[in-house]
Amino acid sequence: MKSEVFRKKPIGDLLKKSGESQLKKTLGSFDLILLGVGAIVGTGIFILPGTVAANHAGPAIILSFIIAAIVCALAAMCFSEFASSVPVTGSAYTYGYIVFGELIAWLIGWALLLEYGLAVAAVATGWSSYLHSLLAGFNIMIPNAISEAFNPANGTYLNVPAIAIVLAIAGLLTIGVQESAKFNKIMVFIKISVILLFIVVGIFYVKPINWQPFMPFGIGGVTSGAALVFFAYLGFDAVSSAAEEVKNPQRSMPIGIIGSLLICTLLYVAVALVLTGIAPYTSLNVSDPVSYAMQLIQQEWVAGVISLGAITGMTTVILVMSYGGTRLLYALSRDGLLPKSMYELHKKYKTPIKNTWVFAVIVAFFAGFIPLSKLAELVNMGTLLAFTVVSIGIIYLRKDKSIPSGSFKVPFFPVLPIVSFLLCLFLLSQLSIDTWIACGIWFVIGLFVYFSYGKKHSLMNKN
Ligand code: ALA
Repeated sequence: MKSEVFRKKPIGDLLKKSGESQLKKTLGSFDLILLGVGAIVGTGIFILPGTVAANHAGPAIILSFIIAAIVCALAAMCFSEFASSVPVTGSAYTYGYIVFGELIAWLIGWALLLEYGLAVAAVATGWSSYLHSLLAGFNIMIPNAISEAFNPANGTYLNVPAIAIVLAIAGLLTIGVQESAKFNKIMVFIKISVILLFIVVGIFYVKPINWQPFMPFGIGGVTSGAALVFFAYLGFDAVSSAAEEVKNPQRSMPIGIIGSLLICTLLYVAVALVLTGIAPYTSLNVSDPVSYAMQLIQQEWVAGVISLGAITGMTTVILVMSYGGTRLLYALSRDGLLPKSMYELHKKYKTPIKNTWVFAVIVAFFAGFIPLSKLAELVNMGTLLAFTVVSIGIIYLRKDKSIPSGSFKVPFFPVLPIVSFLLCLFLLSQLSIDTWIACGIWFVIGLFVYFSYGKKHSLMNKN
């Protein structure tokens, strides 16, 4: 029993399989940076800074953003070393398979499914509320009953726009990655322009008095804020799931992951500074803080443009996170841990069409019925758990001489991976007890699936 659940994947097999992969290899470093920025910039910057500044960190939210960025940067380096040594689809799940064995790998994969699936659902509901307010600006009203989560007491039943966007993106993903990457490029360009517009216009209206008191909720507020704005950085790990579709993964993966994270950190800190400089932090508890701040300084047209950019931004997050989720299902199924149909490719488009639709329909269900706050809480937890394993995994990766070393190495080894591991644990400790319980239930289901299906059907049984 012990040896079965902890059986490890031989690296040679993985690389061979990756070489034989039928997924088309079309992506370069620049595509990956855009894929990363596409996955990262979204709800986290357009919605979260308001509530986090008002209720947790005050103007010191910039410190929350910096702490979360440091945690992500350290984890990103660990991800990069893995992605460059083992350029195989499946991200942290595959890395776990090589260094820790099947059961841990499955649990990481299960955690990542939680991350990708609920992040897509959460962002789709954010997308829906920005669409609602943008259309309201043109006097087009979507009835609340069909544009919010299930809550009959409030007269709301289903979030139709959120469902529609999830399914539309699934349609796009089935046509092909290259096509999706092109669409992504245009969208990334629009959302970065909108954020720069906010910074450039807003900077002239900053009143330094608004930055006082800087830390109204103390250091505790800053760290719990960091555990929440962590959400804003999620997505860079989705880059590593594109490994089999990259032309020169050893070189491109680290550039893609670290490059996209760096760009996002600069943008977030600048937005947070300008936002809390324009408006007193106490006034920011609104669902669209970035465009709200522009209305406050009578820049109505900028506010409208920002709403449009926010919708665009969230669309790309949905695209890349859905992509990550479907490729993860693909990897789990290829290894026999999930049914084979999740691994089948469409004859013409060469994309995993069945798994894309299974993923989309389940996610659309969550997006349609469950509110944003509940969804977002769980996402950070799933991700941080996967990050802890990837961080500590570097130590095992280096020990195992059978694994070829890639072109990228984590600096300050072994201090950096250990610090990364500890910081992830620290952020995990900042999350609420309800989140821990819900996450526990998810993992119990995961263990059930593994012991009733995955363990019996694992391809490793053949070895
Ligand atoms: N980082 C993504 C966002 O902010 C999840 O929407």
